[in-house]
Parts: sequence; structure tokens; C-alpha cells
Amino acid sequence: MMPIPSGWDLSGRVAIVTGAARGIGLERVNLLWSRGARVVASDLNPSVNELGGEDIATFCGDISQEATAIGTSRLALQRFGSIDILVNNAGRTMNKPLIDMSTADWDAIMAINARGNFLHSREAVRAMLGRGGGAIVNVASIVSAVGMKDTSVYGASMGAIAQLTKVVAVEYGDRGIRANAVSSGVVETDILEGIVENSRSTLTAYGNAHPIGRVAQPIDIAEVIAFLASPAPTFMTGALVMADGGYTAL
Ligand SMILES: NC(=O)c1ccc[n+]([C@@H]2O[C@H](COP(=O)([O-])OP(=O)(O)OC[C@H]3O[C@@H](n4cnc5c(N)ncnc54)[C@H](O)[C@@H]3O)[C@@H](O)[C@H]2O)c1
Repeated sequence: MMPIPSGWDLSGRVAIVTGAARGIGLERVNLLWSRGARVVASDLNPSVNELGGEDIATFCGDISQEATAIGTSRLALQRFGSIDILVNNAGRTMNKPLIDMSTADWDAIMAINARGNFLHSREAVRAMLGRGGGAIVNVASIVSAVGMKDTSVYGASMGAIAQLTKVVAVEYGDRGIRANAVSSGVVETDILEGIVENSRSTLTAYGNAHPIGRVAQPIDIAEVIAFLASPAPTFMTGALVMADGGYTAL
């Protein structure tokens, strides 16, 4: 195993990671845990429970529900004694033209991506304030910064996450809480399954649109998250960090 730069060491820290059953979230749980953190891994999918272990507790619930945000926070506090890191990762996409989007589509995506982020941030900040601070890392997307066809609802939800990140940073910066977001390019996960026809070939086409010549793997994004969650970037807060293979540099 490669030595961990000391500033990236997460020993003694407690992290909540949402959307931890698969994809970027699962990679993140593994990476934070391997750097010393104790982790509460939550997901809608009960397969998250397979992750359990001495330093990993699991919670099954829908992030759009207040009870999930409160339950996850309570679990972290009761099992591990604090919340030092929140990774708001769980989310869903929705890809179709604006004229085909229904109000139910809007409500469903905003409830998960925007309200879920708000609820979990609120509960984590409440807990962090009592301990002198913490780090919140939100997973946003390039569509929080640029327009992309067929992403009206998803893009609006990512824009909401970007703005929530800045507000938390401004509101609680002087109380030791840093909030940053990673605006990710397209990542090879199962998120497009059942939403986009031929999702695998769509991923290849997306790869060609990134100057770096490929889409990201979950570990590419998890590394950026682990850095933002660590004590190393002491002066970074309110930032939207582009981890996008150069997509928004075009
Ligand atoms: N994959 C990409 O191209 C990409 C790009 C930019 C941003 N993102 C964002 O990254 C995050 C993770 O995406 P991924 O690609 O790993 O997706 P994924 O679909 O592989 O994993 C998402 C996880 O979140 C969980 N989840 C979904 N809705 C939930 C809910 N309501 N409550 C609790 N858990 C829920 C799913 O069960 C799943 O385990 C999402 O927020 C997504 O918007 C992904």
C-alpha cells in the first residue's frame, strides 16, 4: 500500500457517506476507511448492509426523507461519537428533453438531489457545531456549471447543490466547518442504467467529449473527495472543484 501523505490521514475521524452501496459512493467508503476513518455508509439499497464491519456502520434509507438524515446522524454519534465528515454523494439523474419532463420528474429528482443534500447537511452541521467543526463534501456535476442537453431537472438539482455548498461555507466558515463540492465529469458507474438507452455506448461517447479522452472511474472522483474531506486543504471552502477531465475548460 502507498504511504498516505500525513495531511490526508483520516485516523480518528468519523464520516457519513450517502449512496454507499455502489458506484462512486462505495469507492469512497473504501478509500476513507483505508485512510483511517470510521464510516457510516447509507443507501436506499439494502445491499449497503453487506458493508458492515468494526469501523463501518450501515443505514438503509431514502436520503430525501428527514428520518434518514436524522437516523444516519444519530447512528454516527451513538456508534462512533462524532460527525467530522459528511459526503453527500447519493443522487439520481434524469435525462430527457425539457418538453418531456413532468412535474413528477422535477419533484422526484429535486427531492433526492437537492432536499436530500439540504437535510443531511443540516443534521451534520448541527452535530459538527458542538465539536468545533468538520468537512462537508458534496457531489455535484459539470452540469452545475455548464448547460448540457436533456439535463434540465438534473442540472437544476446540481445547481442547487452548488449553491447550498457556498451558503454552508459562508454561514459556518468561522465555526470551523468547511463545505466544498466536486463537480464531476461523467463517471463510469451504473447511474445511467435504465435511464438512457444503450447506456454503455453513451458512456463511450461521453468519454470522447472530455479533453482527457475518457470518462472517469469512481476512484478518480473518490480521491478528490478524500482530499477535500481531509485536514489538508485548510483554506478551501465554498469551492466547486472541477474533476472533469477538462470538460469545462473547453
Ligand atoms: N456517474 C456520473 O457520471 C456522475 C457525474 C456527475 C455526478 N454524479 C453524481 O455522483 C453521485 C453518485 O453517482 P454514481 O454515478 O455513483 O451513481 P450510482 O447510481 O452508481 O450510485 C448511486 C447510489 O445512490 C443510491 N441512491 C439513489 N437514490 C437514493 C436515495 N433516494 N436515497 C438513498 N440512496 C440513494 C443508489 O442506491 C446507489 O447506490 C450522484 O449524486 C450523481 O449525481 C455522477
